[in-house]
Amino acid sequence: MRRAAVRGLGQIERVAGAARRRVQDAGGGRGGDGGGTGRAGGRANGGAAGGRGGTEGGPAGGAAGGRYGRLWDPPADSDAMALILNTTDTAEFERTGRADADRLAGFLPANGTAMDVGCGIGRVARYLAPRCATLWAVDASPRMLELARDRLAGEANVRFARCIDTDIPDVPTASVDLVYSLLVLQHLEREDAFLLLEELRRVVKPSGTVFLTFPNLLSDTYLSAFVDYAHRGETANPARARMYTPQEVERVVPAAGFDVELEAGVEIVAVCRPR
Ligand SMILES: C[S@@+](CC[C@H](N)C(=O)[O-])C[C@H]1O[C@@H](n2cnc3c(N)ncnc32)[C@H](O)[C@@H]1O
Repeated sequence: MRRAAVRGLGQIERVAGAARRRVQDAGGGRGGDGGGTGRAGGRANGGAAGGRGGTEGGPAGGAAGGRYGRLWDPPADSDAMALILNTTDTAEFERTGRADADRLAGFLPANGTAMDVGCGIGRVARYLAPRCATLWAVDASPRMLELARDRLAGEANVRFARCIDTDIPDVPTASVDLVYSLLVLQHLEREDAFLLLEELRRVVKPSGTVFLTFPNLLSDTYLSAFVDYAHRGETANPARARMYTPQEVERVVPAAGFDVELEAGVEIVAVCRPR
């Protein structure tokens, strides 16, 4: 998963631009993002036509729809690919999805249930779904979910659900064997990332696994991304990546109720088991 370092940088550029435009459109400042902090989001109202379960429809912004989803609004698959992986090369996008799914499959029991949190357009879900009984594709962004529904139309066992900032109300407690979230937690405020970790702890089975990635501030790649951020004033961008050290991950993830094993490369990979 080392190539993710490059993805992060490209994404920073693009999401930063989009988020800045939104902040400007809303009159400037974080208050214009249209929602409170924390877990107050609740369920989305309404529902998008054609959903196969879940509340993935609903407003793209505002308190009811959450703050994070509206920051990720790609017009088409190619824009989404550029946001997610900093590539418009379809073959590369598919190759990485297949490779990540191969690794994740090792944590999945026979007939297991998986959940892809921050699934984007289903880069990984597309290749993991055929190996699951059920796969939940979860994202904060209604647009990402819409594109994922198209891309995963051939996978009848995929269910879609909205994450309202840090809540995934449609997914039952202790129901998922393998929860994974790749290149996602970094885009939340650290406190919100912690609340989302607690939500993942809620949905995973006691015997299950949670697989996470974080950008490693101690790597040259992410240190230079951090310095770049600082120079470009990215603190105003709510979708920017937050870098972590392995030591921080080792402290924060257990505080959400997990035992954790780390691999610290350019990306920090955390394999977590509920305590
Ligand atoms: C860099 S993309 C990664 C997509 C996918 N995990 C992959 O690796 O292909 C980040 C994704 O996280 C989603 N996201 C952002 N904030 C979120 C939140 N609070 N809850 C769930 N998903 C979120 C975005 O909409 C976007 O689809």
